[in-house]
Amino acid sequence: MSLKEAAERVAGEFEFDGEGVRKAVKEFLKEMDDGLQKDGTYMSQIPTYVTAVPNGTEKGLYMAVDLGGTNFRVCSINLHGDTTFSLTQSKTKIPKELMTAPTAQELFAFLAKQIEGFLKEHHNEHYEGHIRRHKHKTPNANPATDETEIFNLGFTFSFPVNQIGINRGLLMRWTKGFDIADAVGKDVCALLQTEIDRLHLPVRVAALVNDTVGTLMARSYTSPGKTGTLLGAIFGTGTNGAYVEKLSNVTKLTSNKEADGTYDNSTGEMIVNTEWGSFDNGLEVLPNTPYDVDLDKESVNPGIQMFEKRVSGMFLGEILRRAIVGLLKDKSVSLFGDSDSSVNDLHTTTNIAKDSALFKQWGLDTSFLSLASGDNSAGLKIIRQSLSKELSISSSSLEDAEAVKLIAAAVGRRAARLAAVAIGATVVQSGRLNSMEGKEGGELDERDVVDVGVDGSLVEFYPDFEAMMRGALREVPEIGEAGEKRIRIGIAKDGSGVGAALIALVASKELKVVEEESD
Ligand code: GLC
Repeated sequence: MSLKEAAERVAGEFEFDGEGVRKAVKEFLKEMDDGLQKDGTYMSQIPTYVTAVPNGTEKGLYMAVDLGGTNFRVCSINLHGDTTFSLTQSKTKIPKELMTAPTAQELFAFLAKQIEGFLKEHHNEHYEGHIRRHKHKTPNANPATDETEIFNLGFTFSFPVNQIGINRGLLMRWTKGFDIADAVGKDVCALLQTEIDRLHLPVRVAALVNDTVGTLMARSYTSPGKTGTLLGAIFGTGTNGAYVEKLSNVTKLTSNKEADGTYDNSTGEMIVNTEWGSFDNGLEVLPNTPYDVDLDKESVNPGIQMFEKRVSGMFLGEILRRAIVGLLKDKSVSLFGDSDSSVNDLHTTTNIAKDSALFKQWGLDTSFLSLASGDNSAGLKIIRQSLSKELSISSSSLEDAEAVKLIAAAVGRRAARLAAVAIGATVVQSGRLNSMEGKEGGELDERDVVDVGVDGSLVEFYPDFEAMMRGALREVPEIGEAGEKRIRIGIAKDGSGVGAALIALVASKELKVVEEESD
């Protein structure tokens, strides 16, 4: 067998055809429904207590922080009320040891410290004034001034949380490499507020926000359509989506005994955080190669986030790494030069350094996939250079690079088609395509558009990710060619900043109403 044929065989293992897409959409709709009715389902379908999307006229100064991946971000956002905003921010890498710290307090104390640093640097007058009054214990002479002095903060916390109020939520489980057992079951807003108060900062955690909800809000604020955005989705380190659901469909809301129930129900809608990363943990419909099986087995959370493990940035590089190693094991072909089976009993070569990242878990970054699929240079120079730089493969041939490119493209394409399952099912669930029935071939107007806001490194940087998703969307019978054209997908940058600020705004207004009612 030639190397090309062998690579085609491996690439073929990642095939996810139209039939697969259709079956998966069906299952996705079923699991969405399950999650709306009861707890403990694969997809958590978490009610967020946010009952409306913005329309671009919202105004004011808010703070937001974001914990969810490799960085912790603090920002203040000025919403101008005309679909625009300005934003000041700082970013710090989260020390690896805090991601698995013995207690939650260590992590949250670190976060509060960053907020303090940000306030000192960017809002010092505000900060100093507050601290001065606190030290001198000036009596609360004018509660109104005191109130305006407090920043309302939206806390973007991108992990599955059982939300029991707009600023209350109990951590269900960690994902994306975090693992602090002590935090599970605790209210993450209270954990943060305690550490903020310890430092006497003028900040109130007003809203708990998943990054997907922030994305949905940000998209709706910056590009308000006639019907508002339906879905905010992340395809980055992790993957997830939040969408607008009919309140009457969220039947488990009323049965949640811990829920505090204060939300504005006048819109008849509520944003639901699907946590679709755990779609089909039972592997009824998801494709499952030997590489997927091993990746899961050796992960920190086997059996969980099975959809995410096939779609998102944290995992695609690792899938590709395992597939390349698989090809190296194929003794009938030669990859990266002559054989020297002394290393790890693989069909390896003297061209591969013995300590190559190719043999280490998480050794290959997902950005390599984008790079490989997008390399159209003569002789695939870019792939070969980065094989040398990232995997210490001193020399590779054009055929080697072609084989790697073929497999990388197959892993990426499968991810994009799976992503389409999530987007497609959500669009079908919303019923928004039905409004056009009988208008086939007619003119599209703004009201017929189903708007989707997306964010994350994959949609942003992976070549043709959207085009590949659209191909799969057309294969869903409830969507088809006509429906696919009506789905508008736009990048919504900064959901965790401006989106969180928008939710803090909604939350602080609701807080006022509640306070006034109890006066
Ligand atoms: C993981 C988290 C989810 C988050 C997503 C994207 O799936 O569980 O809450 O929205 O990553 O960051």
